[in-house]
Amino acid sequence: MKIDHQLFRIGIPVIDNQHEAYLNLLDDLFAVGRDEIINRSKIEEALKKAFVYAMEHFDSEEMLMESIKYPALDVHRRKHNEFREGVERLTIEGKFLGATAFLQEVNRWMLQWVQDQIQTHDRALAEYMRKHPTHS
Ligand SMILES: [Fe+2]
Repeated sequence: MKIDHQLFRIGIPVIDNQHEAYLNLLDDLFAVGRDEIINRSKIEEALKKAFVYAMEHFDSEEMLMESIKYPALDVHRRKHNEFREGVERLTIEGKFLGATAFLQEVNRWMLQWVQDQIQTHDRALAEYMRKHPTHS
């Protein structure tokens, strides 16, 4: 599985650059599935890298939203918190799964989350910034 990064561009360079770096980390995570033997610690390591980067990205996105007084900041921040909770839950539940099932579940969840987050919530932010250009 390889993500088409172009589909995730929202037209705000500072955010697009961070998303690009994040999508690269997701590609690394998905690439673990191409190994002949799926290694649990490799999954955990790749997941952790994506998680740490996501946290930095959320901070910078939230700072940007605060600076422009983005009206949907609370909703957006809640989505970020759901990500934190989701990854924590996946990490715990993964201990009860075999490595392959764990990786499948992680990949499915991460892909679904990034799709919803970027295509819905980040796009709405980009749209708001385009309509209120003095803020950007
Ligand atoms: Fe984002």
